[in-house]
Amino acid sequence: MQITFIGHAGFIVETAGALVVMDPWLSPRGAFDSAWMQFPRNHHMAPRVRELLETSPKQRFLYVSHEHKDHFDPEFLDTIQRRDFTVLIPRFQRVELLEVFQAYGCQRVISCRDRQEIPLPGGGYLKLFLMESGTNRDSSLLVRGDGQSFLNLNDCKLHDRLASIAAEEGPIDVFTAQFSGAIWHPVCYEYPREVYEAISLQKRDSKFEAVARAIDTVKPQAYLASAGPACFLEPELFHLNLEKEGIFPRAPQLFEFLHRRLPGASTRYIEPMPGDVLDVTGLEQVHGVSERITDENLESYLRAYAADQAHFYRARRRNILRAEVDEIHELLRVELRRKLDLLEVHKRVEMPLYVMIKEAPGRLLRVDFQERRVEVVPAIRDSRRYTMAVSAVSIARVLERKLTWEDFLLSLRHRMSRNPDVYDPILHGFLGLEIDDIREFCEAVRAMESRRERTTVVAGDKRYSVLRYCPHQGADLAEAWVEDGRYLVCPRHRWQFDLHDGGQCPMNGASIQAECLQDSERKRESERDRLAASPEVRPES
Ligand code: FES
Repeated sequence: MQITFIGHAGFIVETAGALVVMDPWLSPRGAFDSAWMQFPRNHHMAPRVRELLETSPKQRFLYVSHEHKDHFDPEFLDTIQRRDFTVLIPRFQRVELLEVFQAYGCQRVISCRDRQEIPLPGGGYLKLFLMESGTNRDSSLLVRGDGQSFLNLNDCKLHDRLASIAAEEGPIDVFTAQFSGAIWHPVCYEYPREVYEAISLQKRDSKFEAVARAIDTVKPQAYLASAGPACFLEPELFHLNLEKEGIFPRAPQLFEFLHRRLPGASTRYIEPMPGDVLDVTGLEQVHGVSERITDENLESYLRAYAADQAHFYRARRRNILRAEVDEIHELLRVELRRKLDLLEVHKRVEMPLYVMIKEAPGRLLRVDFQERRVEVVPAIRDSRRYTMAVSAVSIARVLERKLTWEDFLLSLRHRMSRNPDVYDPILHGFLGLEIDDIREFCEAVRAMESRRERTTVVAGDKRYSVLRYCPHQGADLAEAWVEDGRYLVCPRHRWQFDLHDGGQCPMNGASIQAECLQDSERKRESERDRLAASPEVRPES
């Protein structure tokens, strides 16, 4: 088996009889309205990937793991002329991907269920693992062929299922999983510098810890550092590439962590560059590209890259007329109103949200979730509130349906604040979802809350009974771990639940209703003793 890295989360895996192209993100426009660019740049790989998909004599597959545009790149896919290959996509409830590929004109589209196997010529198979909880959708792919295996987890947070996958599938030769942040918190939030750095570091280490645990579970021969950071070449975002404590670390920082965290591990850590080819037999690099990013050349590399792409950002800048701002303001008000009308769980959001268009600073949109009302107000009047500031040009792209809300938030072209500093999943859903997805989101929230199964966890010398499924997005807490003797950490997004405080998450108040079994046992015993000692309430014999 040979694995060619094509940048970000993209690979070409070749076995004796099959060729599988995974998540080719190659478009020179990057993703999320060009806010994210491939790092290191990989646009030169596009002709090769296209040629292999069109002409390889092996059985050809294109796998797209999920809808995010750094994995699903319609602009590149449009450039492929001959489409007689097979497309593999996960079978999500939302059929957007399926519809796109049904219209794409390829030979076969397989919309795979969780754990579905696709046999490969010459032996072996492809197997998809799905994760879908509410509006969060992703998938992973295992390739088994030539007696070897490659598990590509990419961004899919299957960490609570990895132990069972590893047990079922046996040894994995090469493994890869996302190691960098890919979210707008804390990047877009107003924090004092030291708070910003502390939050970023905590997030980064928590991500690294998840990778360490995954490696410890899967025990692969090699880990490939992929789905790392994109880069940000727009002048306003460029500084993010060079933050020492940021949530977008590079592979060498991860490897340092892994060497400390897993001192005895025999796994080899490899940082591939686009174009590198690894032969899984003996883990030999059979082709290595000459241009490699190091700490020394990072900044000059990025500055040259930014200069090459500057035309994208110049093209976005334009003067905007007052009448246009007014129109965008009204469209935004209507959009927020429509979302709020569909948000059946609106009462759960206790604080209002203020949305400000920067070009109209005296006309804020105040979303009152309690009263289910959107009003125009001249200034912020609540001390407990969320705020979001956007430019008219940026938000217009969403209102014109050129960008989804989530794509817009991922473009990092907004500023947010919250007081108190508490993450609210419902507000997050309200902002990040399309109007059409809000109803499904509310149903998923309710379904999650109705799960009452419990599991037992051990912290120090105590055993606790807790809700088995995480109140965030339903990860199995039977696979969670304990930190500092009291915090149960969810394996998926690593919320921490304080077992000494009834299982509350200090970050947001969500609870897994922890009960210390020894304490409840003691309480029951003393209640029995009390009843036995009291003649009036002596239990019937
Ligand atoms: S599922 Fe997200 S933190 Fe548990």
